[in-house]
Amino acid sequence: MLNKKTVRDVEVSGKRVLVRCDFNVPLDKEDPSKITSDKRIVESLKTIKYLINAGARVILCSHLGKTGQNKSLAPVAKRLSEYLEKDVPLLKDIVSDSTKEFVMNMEDGDVCLLENTRMYEEEEKNDAEFSRKLASLAEIFVNDAFGSAHRAHASTEGVTHYLPSVAGFLIEKEIAALDGGINNPKRPLVAIVGGSKVSSKIAVLTNLLDKVDSLLIGGAMMFTFVKAQGGNIGKSLCEDDKIEVAKEIIKKAEEKNVKFVLPIDVVVADEMSEVSNTFVCKPNEIPDDYMGLDIGPETLKLFKDEIATAGTVVWNGPVGVFEINKFAVGTNEIATAMAQSEAVTIIGGGDSAAAVEKAGLSEQMSHVSTGGGASLELMEGKKLPGIEALEDKDE
Ligand code: 3PG
Repeated sequence: MLNKKTVRDVEVSGKRVLVRCDFNVPLDKEDPSKITSDKRIVESLKTIKYLINAGARVILCSHLGKTGQNKSLAPVAKRLSEYLEKDVPLLKDIVSDSTKEFVMNMEDGDVCLLENTRMYEEEEKNDAEFSRKLASLAEIFVNDAFGSAHRAHASTEGVTHYLPSVAGFLIEKEIAALDGGINNPKRPLVAIVGGSKVSSKIAVLTNLLDKVDSLLIGGAMMFTFVKAQGGNIGKSLCEDDKIEVAKEIIKKAEEKNVKFVLPIDVVVADEMSEVSNTFVCKPNEIPDDYMGLDIGPETLKLFKDEIATAGTVVWNGPVGVFEINKFAVGTNEIATAMAQSEAVTIIGGGDSAAAVEKAGLSEQMSHVSTGGGASLELMEGKKLPGIEALEDKDE
């Protein structure tokens, strides 16, 4: 549960309200004026519309891409204008006098968007002076950028030192779903964790072992676990320096009575391509010149049984190389099984969310997070600085 004040708890009518959204949307590589998924924009509309209807003067801001890339938020301003059915002017910079003058002349219900915060290197440095200038545009700060809540940057954390600061509806919804799903779940709680590296999932696995009834492992990281138990994994990805950690995780699962499910068969290939030679074998019997790239049919059955009897399923990380159709079967079938199940279904952001979206199944899940890194850190049990900095709810 979010223990922070939200937009409902402050008087916004007639006030200039700075709203941090996560408009870091994927853009088409060939034509960067095209947004390839506008989920993050759509998910931010509830807070924006609420503020407009309440008579606030809404100043939106976000990062897009990395510092130094200087990507413009112009495609986002255009899409927002369409969704809101009103002009959303894009102000070319953040700290100039003309921007200040523009916002001071806004009227109740007006909306504007500031240009990409990462056009300023002060943003990621959480520079105090830059934060103060950004804050000086407004009277209230609303953070609704769940996807950036794990970053202590000027526009997520720095500004909170200068303005009354509350959460938007998206942050409220994400915390209710992710925190509720992990810490107060309908049982049995089944977690599916995939991805390529054990190293990037150690914290999440360790935290989940204290919460879940079953932990299903997929993705290339399974091979570090398989090797830890002995056997031949061929040329599959493996982090040799994490074998001891993998052993400890398996031991901890036993101690905690968590059902720890490793794949019993895998799709192996001689190369990572659509035209590779493939067959199915046991994960610990892979020929030297082959690598495991997806879970096999027997494992899928096993995973589907767990999903079918779960009260809650939390999924983070694809179980195969889903970008290549040939190795996307496991990931797609998991998504389908989750979509069809009666359980509460929660998709951590990033690659698993992309896979679910690609399969057209997002609407059938209980929750698909808009945050990749942020949802991972939440599942690791970490506090997110962009949320911690907001005002606590009154007792
Ligand atoms: C994301 O895409 O996960 C968020 O927008 C955060 O982006 P960042 O990893 O570049 O900070």
